[in-house]
Amino acid sequence: MNAREVRRRGGRVLPWLLCTAVLGMGLAAGPPQAAAHAPRLSGYNQIYRPQVHFSARRHWMNDPNGLVYYDGWYQMFFQYNPYGRRWGNMSWGHARSRDLLHWQQLPVAIPESRRFMIFSGSAVVDWHDTSGFGVHGRPPLVAIYTAQPRAHRGPQTENLAYSTDGGRQWRKYPGNPVLNIGLRNFRDPKVLWYAPRHEWVMVVSRAAQRRISFYVSANLKTWRYTGNFGPAGDTRGVWECPDLFALPVANRPGETRWVLKVDVQQQGPDTGGGGQVFIGRFNGRTFRASSLHPQSLDLGEDYYASASWSDLPADGPPVITLGWMDNWLYAQRTPTAPWCGVMAFPRRLSLRWQNGAYHLLQRPIAALARLRAAPHRFGAFTAARGRTLLTVPARGRAHEIRARIRVARRGQFAFTIGSSDGRRVTLAYHGASGRFSVERTGRYRFSKAFDSRQSASLADTRGTVELDLIVDRSSVEAFVDHGELTVAERMFPRGGAYTVRVRAHRARFVQTTLWALHSIWRRP
Ligand code: FRU
Repeated sequence: MNAREVRRRGGRVLPWLLCTAVLGMGLAAGPPQAAAHAPRLSGYNQIYRPQVHFSARRHWMNDPNGLVYYDGWYQMFFQYNPYGRRWGNMSWGHARSRDLLHWQQLPVAIPESRRFMIFSGSAVVDWHDTSGFGVHGRPPLVAIYTAQPRAHRGPQTENLAYSTDGGRQWRKYPGNPVLNIGLRNFRDPKVLWYAPRHEWVMVVSRAAQRRISFYVSANLKTWRYTGNFGPAGDTRGVWECPDLFALPVANRPGETRWVLKVDVQQQGPDTGGGGQVFIGRFNGRTFRASSLHPQSLDLGEDYYASASWSDLPADGPPVITLGWMDNWLYAQRTPTAPWCGVMAFPRRLSLRWQNGAYHLLQRPIAALARLRAAPHRFGAFTAARGRTLLTVPARGRAHEIRARIRVARRGQFAFTIGSSDGRRVTLAYHGASGRFSVERTGRYRFSKAFDSRQSASLADTRGTVELDLIVDRSSVEAFVDHGELTVAERMFPRGGAYTVRVRAHRARFVQTTLWALHSIWRRP
């Protein structure tokens, strides 16, 4: 798409987008601002519209795509239907941010064509211009996506699009596809630069075979197969959206391990989020897991298709991920309008060696603290009869609650987030079993599968559990014990109002802090 087309689109259908984009340009030289008191953006105040999570202003959104950082901007693309509130006409929608909190939505970056929809994929900065797409010595951004034949006949193939203006305008590569093996379920390429061999690696899913394939390339245009991983772990559904990244092992100085994440599209309720994580070694060709018992990525029902940012600045966390906070079982029936689909809060990842195994930890990015209004600190309490920590009216603010709870051997505690009519999410810990559980009830009319229950063991609590909770109009996220376990779930409290209550037995809330969070939907 050329500049004229972009402008024409902006002028015709998306006038507000241009306006936010122009305002954003003004900020280009300055530091990121937590625009707490700036005027609100219009269109982001429906009762279920999350206030600290990204959602498209209108229309359907699923997987994050092409997450890449360049020239001070975090670029986010996403599976997007530019015409409606349900899945279809898949194209890459586009938003960008200076701080991973405040987002400006921009015109569609990679539109579908008459013959192909644009499915999920990734993007990189081609620093050495290996592709030759660069102009005037400026490195191009290159997106690698799956083309899905509209007629649903024929193979899924991998394709390139590139940008020479830092991510605003994108052109499809005329030599597409760059990888076609004639397979109908061959999708979601993640590309990374493997520095030791000075070459590109593509991780892509043979979805129906439950296999991840590895390819290498010198120029992003010709690819050579180097190996497969799988089937392994959870094979109950098709494998989608692989991701691969390296992380230092925090408590073993000098040691690095690779993480291969694979999403499994759920075939039934009560399964928890769709991601599984293998940790092991990668030599630029193939991946070897140190254990074939994968870690589940998230205990909740609504965490899917997560992806890591490429080319992050060296002075921040090495890996930041973003997931789609929804579930294919019911995502298209959730009761929101004129938008549908929301991203989870960005997470920073780390690795720890613990009880003879590597373990992935996920915490909210530190920038969350910049959204906090003044803290409210509770004195220590027991809550044997229950206690309401927070009452949020319809269209209220998002909140964060941090609590440290001392739990006796047979003690337990529970957080219940929801409306009085029974639509609620309950997060609980049971000292006797050492298990943390999440239960969602409410007999929602739009899906029987929305009522669900999962649980998992918490390792090594030593009698104290720490919980960081983000509640936001239609979502609950919990980060337990510094991210050892996470939970992401949607909820739709009737009328939009809800409370957060706690109840405990033989347990004591020793430190509890509550913050209202400033909305991200403000002018930068
Ligand atoms: C995962 C997924 C991907 C695919 C995309 C289509 O949620 O099914 O495998 O590329 O969504 O929108």
